[in-house]
Amino acid sequence: MKIVSTIPELKEVLPAHQSIGFVPTMGYLHEGHMSLVESARRENEFVVMSIFVNPTQFGPNEDLDRYPRDFERDEKLAREAGVDLLFYPDTATMYPLDMARVTVRQGADVLCGASRPGHFDGVLTIVSKLFNLVQPTHAYFGLKDAQQVALIEGYVRDYFVPVTIRRCPIIREETGLAKSSRNVYLTETEKEDASRIYKGLMDARDALESGHTFNEVKQKLTQTLSEIPDSRIDYVELVDYPTLGEATEASSEVLLAVAVQFERARLIDNVIWKRG
Ligand code: PAF
Repeated sequence: MKIVSTIPELKEVLPAHQSIGFVPTMGYLHEGHMSLVESARRENEFVVMSIFVNPTQFGPNEDLDRYPRDFERDEKLAREAGVDLLFYPDTATMYPLDMARVTVRQGADVLCGASRPGHFDGVLTIVSKLFNLVQPTHAYFGLKDAQQVALIEGYVRDYFVPVTIRRCPIIREETGLAKSSRNVYLTETEKEDASRIYKGLMDARDALESGHTFNEVKQKLTQTLSEIPDSRIDYVELVDYPTLGEATEASSEVLLAVAVQFERARLIDNVIWKRG
C-alpha cells in the first residue's frame, strides 16, 4: 500500500486504465469502513482510501478538535484490508484558496441538516474535490449516513460526475448499535442503552409493514426513544428516500431516521422501509 499526502504524488501513483474504487473517510476506521473497502476490493482493480477530517463539515460548536484520530492504527487496518493507495492530505492541500464551495439546494434542511446548518455543503465540497482528484469509477458510502448518500447521489447527477455511487449496508454491533467512530465517546452503559435505538427502528418498520400510518409510527418511535435514559432526541423523521421530501402514500421507499444526543456523542441511525 502506498501512502501519499500531496496532489503531485497522488497523480503519479493513480493508474490510468483501471477501474478505481474509492472509499472516502475521516479515519478512526471501524468495521463499517472495512466493509466499504471489501466491496471496493471485489469490484475494482485498484482501491483508494482517503483519510481527511474535513473542517468545513463541522459547525463552530461541534467536535472537530476532539474528533478521534489514530493514523497509525488506520494505516494498519487499511493495509490489511487491501487498500492500494491511502491519500492523507492536510487542510492546505484540500483548500488551497477556499474561494469556492458547493451549496446544497434541496434536502439539507431536514434530518441532520436541520440541526447542522452548512454540514452538507461541507460534505459535498470535500467529496467533489476528492472525486476530481481521485477520478474513481466507483465510490462507496455507508447507509448509516443515508442523507449524505442521497445528497451525494443528487450532486453526482446534477454535475454529471462520471462515477457510480455504491450504497453499502449499515454494519452493527451484536446489540444492534450502528458502528460509528463516535461510539468511543459512549460509556458502556450508554452503549447498552443506545442499542434500544435500533430495536425501536425495527419495531417502527414492522409497524409500517402491518399498515400503521406514518404519524402513528413516528409517535410510537418517539415514545420508545424518549425512554432511553440520559439522552435527548434530536429528531425522529420519516421521509421519502432518496428525495428526502415528505413521505407519502406514493413513496416506494421511506427512510425512518433518528438522531439521539447522549452526554458526549450524538448518534444517528436509520432503516429504510420498502413498500410491498
Ligand atoms: O462520511 C464521512 O466520513 C464523511 O462525511 C466524508 C464522506 C468522508 C466526507 O468528509
